[in-house]
Amino acid sequence: MSMSRERAERRIEELRELIRYHDWRYYVLDAPEISDAEYDRLMRELEELERAFPDLVTPDSPTQRVGGRPAQQFGTVRHRLPMLSLANAFDVDELRAFHRRVTEALGETPEYVVEPKIDGLSVALRYEHGVLIRGATRGDGEVGEDVTANLRTIRSIPLRLRTSYPPPVLEVRGEVYMSRQAFEQLNRARRERGEPPFANPRNAAAGSVRQLDPRVTAQRNLNSFVYELRYAEGLSWRSHFEALRLLAEMGFRVNEHCRLCRSLEEVISFCSEWEGRRHQLDYEIDGMVVKVNSLEHQRRLGARARSPRWAIAYKFPGEEATTRLLDIVVQVGRTGTLTPIAVLEPVEVAGATVSRATLHNEDIIEQKDIRIGDVVLVRRAGDVIPEVVRAVRELRTGDERKFRMPDRCPACGAEVVRLEGEVASRCVGAACPAQRKESILHFASRDAMDIEGLGEATVQQLIDRGLVRDAADLYYLTKEDLLQLERMADKSAQNLLLAIERSKSRPLRALIYALGIRHVGQRTAALLAEAFGSLEALLEASEEQLQGVPGVGSVVAQSIRAFARQPANRDLIRRLQKAGVRTAAASQTRPTEGPLAGKTVVFTGTLGSMTRAEAARLAESLGARVTSSVSRNTDFVVAGENPGSKLARARELGVPVLDEDQFLKLVGRGR
Ligand code: IVH
Repeated sequence: MSMSRERAERRIEELRELIRYHDWRYYVLDAPEISDAEYDRLMRELEELERAFPDLVTPDSPTQRVGGRPAQQFGTVRHRLPMLSLANAFDVDELRAFHRRVTEALGETPEYVVEPKIDGLSVALRYEHGVLIRGATRGDGEVGEDVTANLRTIRSIPLRLRTSYPPPVLEVRGEVYMSRQAFEQLNRARRERGEPPFANPRNAAAGSVRQLDPRVTAQRNLNSFVYELRYAEGLSWRSHFEALRLLAEMGFRVNEHCRLCRSLEEVISFCSEWEGRRHQLDYEIDGMVVKVNSLEHQRRLGARARSPRWAIAYKFPGEEATTRLLDIVVQVGRTGTLTPIAVLEPVEVAGATVSRATLHNEDIIEQKDIRIGDVVLVRRAGDVIPEVVRAVRELRTGDERKFRMPDRCPACGAEVVRLEGEVASRCVGAACPAQRKESILHFASRDAMDIEGLGEATVQQLIDRGLVRDAADLYYLTKEDLLQLERMADKSAQNLLLAIERSKSRPLRALIYALGIRHVGQRTAALLAEAFGSLEALLEASEEQLQGVPGVGSVVAQSIRAFARQPANRDLIRRLQKAGVRTAAASQTRPTEGPLAGKTVVFTGTLGSMTRAEAARLAESLGARVTSSVSRNTDFVVAGENPGSKLARARELGVPVLDEDQFLKLVGRGR
């Protein structure tokens, strides 16, 4: 290539500027303007020119991100200002206490900036005349490690600032992290090569920054956010928010979810918003950082030994934790399914102590190679059952044991079978007490017959004492039966009987669901109730008739037929009917006589003997129409404790008001 030196020099400068611009668009703003192919062309042209004129190569050239040789060890860097850490607030009360301290010290209410707390590792970057000259880890806060060569490989860290008048010296601080996607990709590759995977993205990021060979770091897909302008000769800024804007202007990647808040309430609501949204991000955050905005305020507040008084980290409760898997036991479900359950050394996850977690089924244990004795990662999200995510295999000692599904049911000793093509193993014992217990618990559950107070311990005792074999037996229990049970006082026995009694008038769809017919969930139960109008009609229906119901396919239809054919099930239903359980849809049986027939009733306030929903159900079962607001058409209002405006409205309209006792007398439940 014969290009004059001058022309080459000019073109090189031009190309660098172009590439820097497009790097910024791509890696910092995440808004590329050109295709990868066009970008590659620019890069290749620059590389060729630099090869032709090696003396024109400068360290801040975009071609120089990965260079140098593996180091023997890292040099040390003494930070010119100590790198402080943050005090933590573990709940909203601690956030309020922080605000109180700050406000008292300042004598006024400050503004705050709230930003995501990135779960990575903190680094300090130093630029001289706009060029990156050093990057260091935090270390102990005073002295860190010189990891410049590694940080240079991170494409969102500018090698040269985007400003024509760079300060002679500039220092910033930020977080280097690995996205979830990069983390998963890295671990996949490591497993394929037989290398131990990293436990989490933070460890992966830290491990990658502390690589002696920058070529390895370059392949790790690290990313960065800068969140502090520590020092800039000749630049002035008055608030943290302003500093963030300056940092963004200079080409650093600044987190887009930083928010200026003018009150503590705003801070709290922003923090809780992100507590719920954290999973939407492609990187892990472990909380939010709350910083006093004004620099003047920051100066007046000062710092303690290790942390500033003007900032605090609001930590989210961890949703994952590691603990030891002590044992795997097997739980028998109501359809006989055996579910392996992890018995764990108790551990705090997302604010609750977890000592058991589901392992789903045998295949998953096998796939994830989880063994008894392993250190495992446990996750708990929202109100779902905690689960074992994986084993931390790096921590194996060799004493771990593999799990084997028992070939006999642990509850009844019957054979355990696993059908072809199914993941679940099942106990085939027809009289299996564990299956009975689970099906009775299902029958009594909220969305089914809603028998409040019938918990696991009670059902277990009822079965063990032979008082109950199936759900129908519940309706024949006497107070004397219940008083035999441990921890069953007179009052709770009374309440339980009342709850059982009330359940007789549950809607048909709840009863159908309560029976626990395989493949008949709540939605299907509602469709069937609608279509057949009574349990009798449903159980007499042919497969064809069943399939005529929209949403019911052959699997469901066959399952219902199989249920209906079983003599034990027929017997169960006969006894339910005999006990007075309503087996037809409400509209057909709504009483036309009695004190509540045809009456319009409103409930308000808290009742002592039942919830408002239960009271409403009871009233409906006696033929009342229950509405939520009081009008001239209302026949009477039932008012409990702390009634609201409905009571006032009733008085205004002259609608009769009953208290709870009067209502109970009216429906024949009076004391
Ligand atoms: S400010 C003096 N802002 O959290 C205040 N830190 O527990 C310096 N971190 O060591 C920290 N995201 O590694 C700040 N937006 C953010 C942050 C953040 C993550 C890390 C940082 C620090 C640790 C403190």
